[in-house]
Amino acid sequence: HVLTIDPNAASKGTYEFYMLKEISEQPSVLRHLDQFYLDDKGEPQIDKAILTALAQADRLYIFAAGTSYHAGLVGQALLEHLTDLPTEVGLASEAGYHFPMMSKHPFFIFLSQSGETADSRVVLQEALKRKIPCLTLTNVPNSTLAREADYTMSLEAGPEIAVASTKAYTAQVALEAILAKALGEQLGKQKARDFSLRTNLALAAEGIEEVISDQKRLEQLAQKYLIPSRNAFYIGRGIDYPLALEAALKLKEVSYIQTEGFAAAELKHGTISLIEQGTPVIALINDPVTSDLMRGNIQEVVARGASVITIASKELAKPNDDLVLPQLDYYLRPLVSVVVSQLLAYFASKDKGLDVDKPRNLAKSVTVE
Ligand code: G6P
Repeated sequence: HVLTIDPNAASKGTYEFYMLKEISEQPSVLRHLDQFYLDDKGEPQIDKAILTALAQADRLYIFAAGTSYHAGLVGQALLEHLTDLPTEVGLASEAGYHFPMMSKHPFFIFLSQSGETADSRVVLQEALKRKIPCLTLTNVPNSTLAREADYTMSLEAGPEIAVASTKAYTAQVALEAILAKALGEQLGKQKARDFSLRTNLALAAEGIEEVISDQKRLEQLAQKYLIPSRNAFYIGRGIDYPLALEAALKLKEVSYIQTEGFAAAELKHGTISLIEQGTPVIALINDPVTSDLMRGNIQEVVARGASVITIASKELAKPNDDLVLPQLDYYLRPLVSVVVSQLLAYFASKDKGLDVDKPRNLAKSVTVE
């Protein structure tokens, strides 16, 4: 591999922190992925060997850690929808020592920004021993996980310097969508043929730009509700559930506000006891099947004193919602809603005077098990 590094790509430029720079780069990351992986008709161009190996699988297994694991959960939904192949997602740190039951023809996908996460490497080594085909999606094409796997694909997000991962998540979700469409088409699925990746990636890029241009409003929300609080919750259903997990991780890692992401209906099975007067609850309403139920869950926490911030897709929005997001393909909604959560986390951290790019106790890549 020849590694080319743009010397300007790793400088902060006019941004106060890398995190904001990297959040702002996400529209161009999506447009670049379109250019890099799609042909002029918008069809994915993926290494034939990868597609052939994937098409022989009877089940896909995604392994990752941290933010990459959350991107894997969105990828699971995308892959199952467009390929009809059952797909499982596992925490690498758990699977390495309690190897999951395998189908006859498994195929492993590793997601890793750095390509160096030790927990993922343990699973990869075991998989290679068992002759399971392995593909690594990483932002560092000459990294360990890329070199050791049978196949690799580049996230093409450019250097990510801030410890909290932002644009790598977006690139992972987009690349999973590209892979899902390519594999679905390879398997003859009409749904995959009908899924317009080019249109959806373009809409997502525009949607992210809209959210970024609304950042003052997000800063005000962070100042009013998040900064004064010791804890917070993100709730969502359907495709908003994995997003709630990622959103909560982002907020807690950079702002030190204890935040949990919940499947909205699960809150009432215990955790609702933590809701007090003024507890911030950020409700994600992008799932048309359960949006009415979400509104009910919001009422439940409001009745217990929560301060609710509502973030809804255009077609599901009500007049009093705090933020309305553009309508997008259901499975790609996390590409836009995640940016809301990144900016809320960014401002909660910055306006508390914290070191946004280097939160305490954290490392960008974790090379111990
Ligand atoms: C560390 C980072 C996280 C990251 C995780 C997985 O904990 O602080 O931001 O999501 O590792 O890293 P990877 O490089 O494998 O995606």
